[in-house]
Order: sequence, then structure tokens, then C-alpha cells
Amino acid sequence: MTLPIMNSRHFRYVGNELQVEGVPLSRIAEKFGTPVYVYSEAALLEPLDRIRSCLSGLDHLVCFAAKANSNLSILRLFAGAGAGLDAVSGGELFRARKAGVPADRIVFSGVGKTEKEMEEALRFGRSGILAFNVESAEELTVLNRVAERVGRQARFSIRLNPDVDPKTHPYISTGLRKNKFGLPRAEASRLARYSRELRWVSLRGASVHIGSQLLSLAPLREAFRNLSDFAEEIVALNIPLSHVDLGGGLGIPYRNEEAPSIESYCALIQKEFGSNSRLAKKTSLRPKVVLEPGRLLAGNAGVLVSEILFRKKGVSRNFLIIDAAMNDLIRPALYESHHEIVPLTKSGRSRDAVFDVVGPVCETSDVFGRARRLPGSIARGDLVAVLSAGAYGFSMASQYNSRTRVAEVLVSGNRTRVIRRRETYEDLIRGES
Ligand code: LLP
Repeated sequence: MTLPIMNSRHFRYVGNELQVEGVPLSRIAEKFGTPVYVYSEAALLEPLDRIRSCLSGLDHLVCFAAKANSNLSILRLFAGAGAGLDAVSGGELFRARKAGVPADRIVFSGVGKTEKEMEEALRFGRSGILAFNVESAEELTVLNRVAERVGRQARFSIRLNPDVDPKTHPYISTGLRKNKFGLPRAEASRLARYSRELRWVSLRGASVHIGSQLLSLAPLREAFRNLSDFAEEIVALNIPLSHVDLGGGLGIPYRNEEAPSIESYCALIQKEFGSNSRLAKKTSLRPKVVLEPGRLLAGNAGVLVSEILFRKKGVSRNFLIIDAAMNDLIRPALYESHHEIVPLTKSGRSRDAVFDVVGPVCETSDVFGRARRLPGSIARGDLVAVLSAGAYGFSMASQYNSRTRVAEVLVSGNRTRVIRRRETYEDLIRGES
């Protein structure tokens, strides 16, 4: 068969067997059933370590975007490795608390925070979270009021909308003028000035996030320059900026895309915000650099393992119907995104055949991959892995079609543990009457 593209060195074939950190995935499937998400601890930590080492001269904080993968064990793993967390809801703040993420390593993003969520963030830890990323004037007014009620000052950043085209899927573009996110420069400036009149909020940072799965550094460079200009303006208002938040968004390879390397991304950050940057020279300020990567840390650290239920010969194409479905991994249906699909056991002899790999859900979009080459001998009961499923996989899963959500397993060396048990039918009706 054609050699599959593996996007992480921690998932690889040894002989004919696909292994994760040396553990055969088929053994995990046998033990825990399918469908099952399997993550590699080494693969989760590797990009974080690389960011760390190439930003080592720069004061920085990596806040994992919890929306990419919000499993408690994974949040705890990152927190234990010194990372912070980017939350977008009260639920994610709750998870952060449970995972032991320190308050001063949490940022809170999102265009629509409720008063209840603001209050939860203000009460987090002894003095509240590191920063709210504020996205409108009205939000700031409300935040000021909530902070007064709670009796704690709210630290915040202003999220800039730099009107930069990130050249990614329109559903995950966030930095264009027409998007709901952030504030255009003129309004951001106005908000910075206005904030000085508010007693219970304190402007500490400027932030930007222009989109996800970016495969070029050019739009990021443009966004960072805009942010740096804005930061300079804030400093000129005599507001001591403590950090700049550069968001997330760096893309990863799902097949043969050339994603920018972590090292080149860090070099860009050093250039725009390091000690030789324009900002440093013009303001003598060294704000801490906050990053909010999600996909970059988790995407290629997880796979979805599924069993083939049936082979079905259609009139114009052949189908492989697997036991995972769009409710388990919605990315292909939602963004037509590509995920490699590979057999857990390579068969040396069999010639490839072409299949549409589909799930059991009653929707035509329940397709994991069209016209995929897999061994022609593949049969009912065989196992496949859908690759690069560690980010926005389980975290976007639903119970659609009353399908129980699948188990998640974390592998660390030869240690394999369930970090979320498979749901039962009882879980499906919990809370209903
Ligand atoms: N910061 C903010 C404010 C965000 O909105 C996001 C993602 C991130 C950080 C993390 O972005 P990342 O580093 O993961 O690109 N469900 C989509 C992706 C949606 C991203 C939403 N915001 C997908 O499956 O491709």
C-alpha cells in the first residue's frame, strides 16, 4: 500500500503495526473498545517544549486554548508543564480550576461573556485571572460594574481586529473587518482612553487572534505589527503595558501542507516583540508575550481509532462504514477538512482499493474521507485510525443520533489510561425528565 503520511513521530508503524509511543494501537482498541480517541503525552508536550526553548530569552507564557481539547487530564498535563490556559466560557474556567491551572496564567477570550462568567473569572484564585480579553466598549462597561460588585479590579487587554486576511477557511477566520471579533484600531484606541475613567478595570495588555490553521506567517506578521503599533500607543498614554497576547492560530500539517515551523514562528515573535524590536526600542518596555495555541499543541498528538462495520459496494463508489461518525469528529463535515485515514495493520500483499470512508449517522455529510486508498483486502472488523484528531475532535463531539460519546485514552510510554470513560445510555438522558 502507499505509505501513509504520519504527522507525528510518536505515531508510527513498527513492522506492520501502527503504534503510539511504542504501544500498538490495536491493543488499546482491544482493551478499551472503539471508537476511541488516543493521545500521546510525548506528542502533546513536544511543541510546548519547542516553543519554550526557542522563546527562552523572552518573557513569555503559553496559554493553551482549552477549546481545542478540554479533557481535564490534558489540561492538567499542560498546567504541570508550566503552561497557562485560554478560556472562552465559564465551563472552561471551571475545568481550569479542576485541572489546577493557576489564576495568574489564565486569560479569558470571547465576544460574549456573561456577568456570571465575568464574576467567576474575577473570583478565580486569590486575585482573579491574568486578563480578560475585552472585545467591545459595552463589555468593558459591564466588566467594570461586575468588578465593582465583586470588589476586585479586573485586569484586561483590548483585542484588536487588524483587518488582516488569514487565508484560511472562512469559518475559522477571525481578524477581518467583517468578523465579529476584536475592535478596529480607532475604536480600540478610544477604548484605551475611555478605560482610564473606569475605576474597577485596569488596562494591562493588547491582544490579537486572526484565525486558525494558518499556513503562512505573512498574515501573522501583519497582525503583530498592528498590535505592536497599538501597544506603543497605549504606552504613550502612560499606561504601563504588562503583556501582549498574540493569540493562537499557527497551522499544522494534516497531509502534505507545509506549515511554518515553530522555530520560524518564534523568530517572528522575537523580531516583533523581542529586545531588538521596534516596540522595545521605542518604549523601553518589555511586555510579557502571551500565546494561545490550541491546534499546534494538540492537533497531531491524537488519533481517532475506529472499527470497520461494513464494506458496501455502491453503484459508483465503494464505501467503508466505520463505527465512528461525524458526531465524534465533525471537522470533515463542517469545514471539509482533510484527515488521513490509515489501517492499524498494514497488509504487505494486498493491492490498494479506493473507498469513501463514512460513519453511521443519517447525514450525507457524515464522511471522514472521499476516494481514500486503503488495502483492498480491508474487511469488517479491521481497525483504522483517523489522524491529526487531537484538536477540535472530542471537544466538538456531540451525542447527535443519541450516540454515546467515545472514550479518551492517554498514552505515556507504556502507561495507558482512560482519561474519559465511554458514555453509557444513562449519560444520554441525564438531566432529562
Ligand atoms: N485564541 C482565540 C481567541 C481563539 O478564538 C482560538 C481559536 C485560539 C486562540 C486557538 O486557535 P488555534 O491555535 O487552535 O488555531 N473548530 C475549528 C477551529 C476553531 C478555532 C477557534 N478559535 C477547527 O476544527 O478547525
